[in-house]
Amino acid sequence: MPGAILKHIPGMRTAPSVPVLNVEDLSEKVFVDDYVAHSKPCIIRGAAKHWPALQKWGNADYVKKRCGHHKIFLIPHEYHLSLPRNDVGKKIVTFSDAIDFLQAPGTKMGMFATNNPTELAPDTAGFPFLTKPEPAFTYAALRYFFYRAAGTTWHYHPFDETLMCQVIGAKQIGLLKVDAASHKAIRHAFLTESYYDDPSAFDRVDAAHLNWLTATLEEGDALYIPQMWWHGVSPIGGDFGITVAACWRSPLPVLADSIRRMASGEIEMIGMHGANDEFQRILSVAKPMGLGNELMTAWSRGL
Ligand SMILES: [Fe+2]
Repeated sequence: MPGAILKHIPGMRTAPSVPVLNVEDLSEKVFVDDYVAHSKPCIIRGAAKHWPALQKWGNADYVKKRCGHHKIFLIPHEYHLSLPRNDVGKKIVTFSDAIDFLQAPGTKMGMFATNNPTELAPDTAGFPFLTKPEPAFTYAALRYFFYRAAGTTWHYHPFDETLMCQVIGAKQIGLLKVDAASHKAIRHAFLTESYYDDPSAFDRVDAAHLNWLTATLEEGDALYIPQMWWHGVSPIGGDFGITVAACWRSPLPVLADSIRRMASGEIEMIGMHGANDEFQRILSVAKPMGLGNELMTAWSRGL
């Protein structure tokens, strides 16, 4: 259902934009101290405009030649938070076949997300305002989304920071900070995805007063999505598009605060089932901070 991810959320109709910055004006100190340290999202116009990817990846033959042999999971719908729902129609195909499917005239919707095409990484070129990112706990440094008319349903990342970069096409993103008040109101609707098929699902949710935000990205722009922010992603238009998510480790005070909130039961640690290696990496950092027990408690309460 194209557009449902944002159109079915009443708060999105009047949501103001997150702050918009220009890459030429953004120092690393301002980005890290004013935004990352406080988990404040922002758009950085032109953040990835220097990447060769913007000129190269629109050529299907180029990307297929570089990494067409990889096997990926292709889905003929949007990327759903609910795993059973996301698995509907999922199949393993080669990267080349998936690109052909997404660009075929008869294809209405589809997408795949993968860490695999490392051959494409040299066509990215980092960010002048983030020169020393520490490796993320739970994500690869670069995650690639190839899509047609497909976005991602509302979810949040309990760990790690993200710069969502548009390489081809434009997107709109809705955002809402995960806190105790908002979580109580919208948790059920978002986790069950009831809003996706039912435009009236939010009629029963006391969510109009929440601080919904929006962001629109054009090619070469990036959105900083902090950990512990709900976000729903919708493409603008029905054409083929490519997004790259660049991820890195949160500052220790941010990580510590998140662990404490999850241990208290205020927020759940979602999306970590089966991620044992990732969990051990987090534990190795949490223990020296004296938060090993809290992390274990958060894990035991996870969804
Ligand atoms: Fe995300």
